[in-house]
Amino acid sequence: MTTTAIRRPTASNVNLHVGAPGPAVATETAALLNESLGSGFVRVSDLAELTAGRGGVLVRARNRPGQLLGAATARVLGRESVDALRDRLSRAGIEAGWDGHRVGELKSIVVAPTARGMGLGTDMLAASIDFLKASGCRYVVSASWVSADPEQSSLRMLERAGFARMATIPAFWADDQDAAGYLCPECGAQCACAATVLVLKFDA
Ligand SMILES: CC(C)(COP(=O)(O)OP(=O)(O)OC[C@H]1O[C@@H](n2cnc3c(N)ncnc32)[C@H](O)[C@@H]1OP(=O)(O)O)[C@@H](O)C(=O)NCCC(=O)NCCS
Repeated sequence: MTTTAIRRPTASNVNLHVGAPGPAVATETAALLNESLGSGFVRVSDLAELTAGRGGVLVRARNRPGQLLGAATARVLGRESVDALRDRLSRAGIEAGWDGHRVGELKSIVVAPTARGMGLGTDMLAASIDFLKASGCRYVVSASWVSADPEQSSLRMLERAGFARMATIPAFWADDQDAAGYLCPECGAQCACAATVLVLKFDA
């Protein structure tokens, strides 16, 4: 396992780490992500698979004593995933002009409740974007949760980082939930949450 400290964010005593997680780190990180995103949303095996090739990254934020304060996952989307997302956007009346370009996705991002609002999310987002750009992506997409609780959303953070809104799609995760069987923190087993899909385009 290689773990690399890549930057020290604005909050002092916090470092970001990337690299493939060992089993204990994958378990700890999945627990942090699932606490906010829903029980079973991320499986430990997903995190190992994400980082097994060169197509994905798991970013972790830790304070000096080593406590895990945040995590983010990002990956280069395969052709099928890009086509599926384009279809969904098309049904919402938006044509995504991504022809022939590599598209990356910021999939999950969570900061522990006591550490929010200090810039950790923004720093993990920047590290994820750096990874996707270095992987040859021209676009980065992210589905931001439309939650009743404004703190449970990455929308403002993404817009501040230059992402633009494409469309808001109802019951965005319903099919994923059927396949994976996780529990939405707001809807339980029948997730009806909408997502706002945003995109960031890199200059050529
Ligand atoms: C979204 C999230 C990752 C942002 O992380 P963060 O470290 O608090 O973000 P930053 O400090 O870099 O940026 C702050 C922004 O996050 C939002 N935010 C969320 N909770 C916040 C809090 N307790 N205090 C301050 N800002 C908070 C605000 O919109 C804020 O934007 P603003 O400064 O323009 O008001 C974090 O709030 C979180 O883990 N939320 C729950 C999980 C979640 O919803 N993930 C995204 C699913 S789409």
